[in-house]
Amino acid sequence: MILPIYLYGQPVLRKPTEDLEQGSLDVKQLVADMHETLTAAEGCGLAAPQIGKSIRLFVVDGSELGEEYPDCVDFKQAFINPEIIDESDETATYSEGCLSLPGISENVVRPRTITIRYQDTDFNWHEETFTDFKARIVQHEYDHLEAHVFTDRISPIRRQFVKSKLTNIAKGKTVSKYKYKH
Ligand code: NI
Repeated sequence: MILPIYLYGQPVLRKPTEDLEQGSLDVKQLVADMHETLTAAEGCGLAAPQIGKSIRLFVVDGSELGEEYPDCVDFKQAFINPEIIDESDETATYSEGCLSLPGISENVVRPRTITIRYQDTDFNWHEETFTDFKARIVQHEYDHLEAHVFTDRISPIRRQFVKSKLTNIAKGKTVSKYKYKH
């Protein structure tokens, strides 16, 4: 089922998330719905707050990125109760966008490599290290669980520049081809 994507201005995007307990909901169905929503919106990551749920869960899908980032093609999975436990001093700069902030893309500087601990949909724990664009997707989605959006991390000058765009999104003056809620 395709779910509406909550846009900038929705309070849930600024609310701290809670751990997802095994058995508290049908996590496999929710993850399937989030993947379906993500595919329909042609995005590469979606976090639970973006569909109105304040829980520690996000999904990634790099299959749309094949030409530009071939190593991301098979990067399709869910991260439950994740915790970034290490990050590199070395940084990288990428232009980011977000399904909750349609029409905005800005350069963001973040650690190039991160190590994350998380549970899969069977609630088994994993620890993995990601670098470059995979690390970028993971950090962007992880930020959503910490009540951040990517424009929090851009320079003050650029933030001033996108301020009116953000206000318009919050007021519902936006057009997206996917289903959304403002
Ligand atoms: Ni986002």
